[in-house]
Amino acid sequence: MRRAGSEYKACCPFHDEKTPSFTVSPNKQFYHCFGCGAHGTALGFLMEYDRLSFPEAVEELATSVGLELPTEIAFQQGPDNRPLYELMDEAADYFSQQLRRHPESARAADYLKQRGLSEEIAQTYRIGLAPPGWNNLLQELGSNAERIKQLETVGLISSNNGKQYDRFRDRIMFPIHDSRSRVVGFGGRVMGDDNPKYLNSPETPIFHKGRELYGLYEARKALKDITSLLVVEGYMDVVALAQYGIRNVVATLGTATTADHLEKLFRSTHEVIFCFDGDRAGKDAAWKALETTLPLLRDGRQARFLFLPDGEDPDSQVRKQGKDAFLSYMEQALPLSEFLFSKLSEQVDMTTLDGRARLVALATPYIEKLPNGVFRDMMNQQLVQLSGAKIPQKAPPFPRSRSRFRRGSRPTLMKPVHRAIALLLQYPDLASQETLPREWDKLETAGTNILKQLLEILRKNPTYSTAVLVEHWEDDTIRRHLGKLATTDLAVTGDQVEQFHGCLQRLEKEARQAAGKQVRNKLRPSDMTEEEKNLLRRLYSIKKAD
Ligand code: UTP
Ligand code: MN
Repeated sequence: MRRAGSEYKACCPFHDEKTPSFTVSPNKQFYHCFGCGAHGTALGFLMEYDRLSFPEAVEELATSVGLELPTEIAFQQGPDNRPLYELMDEAADYFSQQLRRHPESARAADYLKQRGLSEEIAQTYRIGLAPPGWNNLLQELGSNAERIKQLETVGLISSNNGKQYDRFRDRIMFPIHDSRSRVVGFGGRVMGDDNPKYLNSPETPIFHKGRELYGLYEARKALKDITSLLVVEGYMDVVALAQYGIRNVVATLGTATTADHLEKLFRSTHEVIFCFDGDRAGKDAAWKALETTLPLLRDGRQARFLFLPDGEDPDSQVRKQGKDAFLSYMEQALPLSEFLFSKLSEQVDMTTLDGRARLVALATPYIEKLPNGVFRDMMNQQLVQLSGAKIPQKAPPFPRSRSRFRRGSRPTLMKPVHRAIALLLQYPDLASQETLPREWDKLETAGTNILKQLLEILRKNPTYSTAVLVEHWEDDTIRRHLGKLATTDLAVTGDQVEQFHGCLQRLEKEARQAAGKQVRNKLRPSDMTEEEKNLLRRLYSIKKAD
């Protein structure tokens, strides 16, 4: 980051750019990107950029400045999961030992060999064996009641009628690591034809299928620079490709690809290649993946689609054709734009004007899901070319050129309450004014309620910064709104105190009008209280003065 006046500047980490439009204000303790509109506090940054949860972000920041979280806060964060991670690690060690030591390990070794896996790959992926029998793991790791309870919490032990037994029995075990190298779950495959073929860990406090990807940790460990990541369906596909030296592969865990998955993937690479069966189900799954991907395709991110021949999966394909053929297959994967337009074109008759118009109607909602940027513009151009139509461009929801934010530019038209909130967020000292108009606080709108709360907070804590004020709200939507107001250029040229008073006075007027309306609804003066009659008189005199 480079210093620029009272702020710092850098190229935005949330979108691709050559000239810096990302600013950090130490005063406000807030970052804002004039290019893509990303903004927030230090906490928000860790949540957005590192995908941490709120408590994780708090902990990370506290640790980084040498603070220890008070125990009551640590408690609110939820239970300490460290023993659970430890137990999972012990289990992974146990399974991999069993693959070498158990009396029946020869059968497992044969199975892996028959599937073409070397010992080296088995070790790299920490593949193991859950031996046959009902309570091997339970006896090994369940040394006391607390640990037995923890084994159940992480899904390694099931219970039936008060009797506990191993969840994974007589299976080849694939440990699933999270990006911090911790074992969070397992997948277990039968060695024969039993059902279910694969058994996975259930959702637990440390394992969420919709967030984890098998093989991502291993890929990041093996590769320094990941130019693309191939998303496949199965554990065996990941390890088979690794066996052939293709290491940039991950698998979803028996679920569709989620937005969380994609955010994780795009943090490691710029290009995601989805791999599916060439059959109908594969095409449908690919379309679903496309829909999930669109909103996440900020500039610089790419997605492509690879369809395998009917009846093949990556495992069988690479064995049949070898590494080089598979790699060139990957290179020929269909770009997202081609997949989108070819699929939609199939649904219309492109030889007619009507058909091409229909293509525009079909494609527009998808293109509108894309974030603003070069890619979206290019998709629109491609649609113009395909259909021969001129597409009306919608204005982007946030300004893309920095010039509109330059100081001294025309202030945006804002409601007085929004402007008052923005002023207060950007100049928290305003709250210490002694002679603030007060009557407006009879208004009960969402905006005035927030304004009231802000003044209250600042009265108690006059040193709060912009960032702390924004973080005060738990509600994400409110925080996002406040974040926007905190970074809007208010183009305050004169005295901000005066401006703030002006906003409050306009609110006073709104309050009086609202009250007057209420009174006027009570038609007969005899229904009115004395106070209401006074109000009505005042209101009329104001109206005349206007
Ligand atoms: P597949 O049935 O395609 O298996 O399931 P596969 O990966 O080709 O496995 P092999 O080659 O027969 O050993 C793909 C993925 O779907 C999930 C697993 O995550 C699996 O890797 N799955 C499948 C289950 O969770 N349970 C099942 O019973 C089957
Ligand atoms: Mn397979």
